[in-house]
Amino acid sequence: MAEVTVTRRMHFNAAHRVHNPALSDAENERLFGKCNNPNWHGHNYMLDVSVAGPIEERTGYVMDLGALKAIVQREVIDHVDHRNMNLEVGFMRDIIPTAENIVVACWRVLEPRVAPARLARLVLWETPNNYVEYDGR
Ligand code: NI
Repeated sequence: MAEVTVTRRMHFNAAHRVHNPALSDAENERLFGKCNNPNWHGHNYMLDVSVAGPIEERTGYVMDLGALKAIVQREVIDHVDHRNMNLEVGFMRDIIPTAENIVVACWRVLEPRVAPARLARLVLWETPNNYVEYDGR
């Protein structure tokens, strides 16, 4: 049976500071530059959530994208939108909020919740020019 990947794009705005508390302030500044600004900075993030599976005969869908949107909204967006990712987001606690770490954290939240579809890929856009992708490996 044909397996198809379907994608829902979601948006959120969030503040962060890229900072490793195990390192000195000077080392953080050297490694992360402007992203280490102690007074935070923000991004308009875009998260592309792709799930894969067979086409269900009754509906012609892999997964209702409205249902996928509701899951991502409830499990991720409601927790991060207009929040500070260093301070306010439970699933980012003690994680340096780089795009790489954010996308893996989002995977861990979403992966168990999209069944019977399978989470296939997450793409997190931090700027129009920078994105990271993760497929669970
Ligand atoms: Ni940043």
